[in-house]
Amino acid sequence: MKKKLVVLTGAGMSAESGIKTFRDTGGLWEEYDVMEVASIDGWRRNPTLMTEFYNQRRAQLEHAQPNRGHVALAELEEMFDVRIVTQNVDNLHERAGSTHVLHLHGELTKVRSVLDESKVQDIGYRKMEPGEKGPDGAPLRPHIVWFGEAVPLIGEAAHLVREADIFAVIGTSLNVYPAAGLVGDLRPGRPAFLIDPNEVAMTLPGFTIIREGAAKGVDTMREHLLKLI
Ligand code: OAD
Repeated sequence: MKKKLVVLTGAGMSAESGIKTFRDTGGLWEEYDVMEVASIDGWRRNPTLMTEFYNQRRAQLEHAQPNRGHVALAELEEMFDVRIVTQNVDNLHERAGSTHVLHLHGELTKVRSVLDESKVQDIGYRKMEPGEKGPDGAPLRPHIVWFGEAVPLIGEAAHLVREADIFAVIGTSLNVYPAAGLVGDLRPGRPAFLIDPNEVAMTLPGFTIIREGAAKGVDTMREHLLKLI
């Protein structure tokens, strides 16, 4: 049986695909006020602004391509039972060929009813019109987890991390909870890797630190992983 490799990814995973991170210099939260465009209060205040913000992100995603890091993670499925837990709302892991991807913070290519969170539908890369209604007659909203909202899939993600034989963290500053807290669910003694060109918000004792971008770093990690099969 293949060993279970659980990978937590963040915005840095897609940086080399041309998608801006949030907290780096030049990141999205320098350009936008996070509470205006990514919080439930922001949605209540100005749904049109937030609809436009996610329309722009979706349009950008259509033209982005998975980078070598996404592809290398998909290739690792040949050797490992790879489970990706991503904070990213893009679909670049799937487009690279990864088959088990849990989206903690939602998905750009989906929208849902404001009245019933189980009524999710695909929107692909098209614009959502401000005030657009779904089949149930209720207004639609982006299928994104905003600040001020619960993270419905966190329990499932924590379970995956607890079951991990090997764990990797790629391209997340580990500032946002509960996602960052997943690191604490790893069983002691399990091999763990961090791929990030910069310092992150917590110290990770026992982790093998790979100070590279994701596109190169996943191939570097692969060399280590080959010894753990
Ligand atoms: P951040 O922008 O906070 O962190 C991005 C991380 O990626 C940083 O640690 C960078 O050093 C690193 N990085 C930059 N370039 C990289 C590269 N080429 N390869 C690898 N790493 C690189 O993004 P997240 O931690 O993902 O939530 O942010 C978490 C959440 O905060 C997001 O999901 C989003 C945001 O607000 C919502 O919008 C709900």
